[in-house]
Amino acid sequence: MITRLTLVNFKAFRRLELCLGPLTLLTGLNSSGKSSVLQAFALLRQSFAFDRITTPAEGLLLNGEFVEMGTARDVLHDDFGPADDLLETDAPVVGFVVEAGEPSQYIAFYDLQQPDEDVMVAQRPGLSRWLELPFQYLHADRITPAVTYPRSRQIAIDRGFLGVRGEHTVNFLRHNAEREIADGPLRHPDAISPQLLDQTVAWMQELCPGVNLQADAIEGTDFVRLSYGFGGTAGINATRRRRPTNVGFGLTYALPIVVACLTATPESLILLENPEAHLHPKGQSRMAALLSAAAATGAQLIVETHSDHVLNGVRIAVKQGVLQPEDAVVHYFQGNGAGTQVVTPRIDKDGMLQEWPEGFFDEWENSLDQLLD
Ligand SMILES: Nc1ncnc2c1ncn2[C@@H]1O[C@H](COP(=O)(O)OP(=O)(O)OP(=O)(O)O)[C@@H](O)[C@H]1O
Ligand SMILES: [Mg+2]
Repeated sequence: MITRLTLVNFKAFRRLELCLGPLTLLTGLNSSGKSSVLQAFALLRQSFAFDRITTPAEGLLLNGEFVEMGTARDVLHDDFGPADDLLETDAPVVGFVVEAGEPSQYIAFYDLQQPDEDVMVAQRPGLSRWLELPFQYLHADRITPAVTYPRSRQIAIDRGFLGVRGEHTVNFLRHNAEREIADGPLRHPDAISPQLLDQTVAWMQELCPGVNLQADAIEGTDFVRLSYGFGGTAGINATRRRRPTNVGFGLTYALPIVVACLTATPESLILLENPEAHLHPKGQSRMAALLSAAAATGAQLIVETHSDHVLNGVRIAVKQGVLQPEDAVVHYFQGNGAGTQVVTPRIDKDGMLQEWPEGFFDEWENSLDQLLD
């Protein structure tokens, strides 16, 4: 497990040190640097992992499969300073230290003559095991309901990657429909079998009772198709399949999150942006239960969220003993226009937060105060 990340001169951060747990929530204001933390991992992964699909290069690949960050000028912190604890040099560098057991240090050099390059010459440690472990990264901007989805053997089946927009999820699900979810916190007790498709359906029913899914290849094409059924709840012809474009937005938007969590292994690293997007409040809370279950199986999840229901769902998972208090780490990014400060309120064994910084999910109270005034 990755226990700590240090960023130096990277985007909004002159320096940031962040502790990480099995389930880490990144919360806080817009544009305060939460996604940048996820991008740091994605950037290292797309640059240095063996299974990368971009051309091998001994450098930091700013534009690749996982993130498109632009040029060296874009990623170097505007007000960069010396990184002398990483390297004795006055040259401008972007630095990353990832602690998973031994710290691994990655340093990318900013070439003053070539600020618009999108590969930065980099120094990296030898083999870093965290770069090779199963990995999912789902952006905030995911697949929307569509008639078809791509069918890539290499990405979805050989590598098991769902795509940064979850665009390979339907093909992955089709191919792995019968894969068994191990007995444990992820296995849904109401599913009709331990198989992935049935388990996915059971978790999706937490969002929409009665729904079921089907993922099929469209023979003779490079596409797969997703369809929904609403047994018993959707009119006279309840067995009729419906295409995603006719069943609302939230189900399809949440599907990659559900599949990423259900297929988590004890060594997975899963980066998620806004798993709550387009879900009703109870659905958001149930997503938190699923994230907690994935972390309880041993996977590591780093999750950006704006949802107090996700936060509270994780607190409940701690109270219920699904997660130990130290397994759920919550960071609150406070931006004041001049920089970001991170506060880390701890969750105790009863799910209570030991401090409640101003601005941290306190809008309910603020609004109630105004309503009751
Ligand atoms: N080179 C740079 N130097 C300084 N700051 C930068 C640089 N590049 C980006 N930033 C700042 O980094 C921040 C990017 O934030 P990020 O995208 O991580 O936000 P976020 O917390 O995920 O927001 P949201 O909640 O809206 O998703 C912005 O405030 C942006 O101005
Ligand atoms: Mg973000």
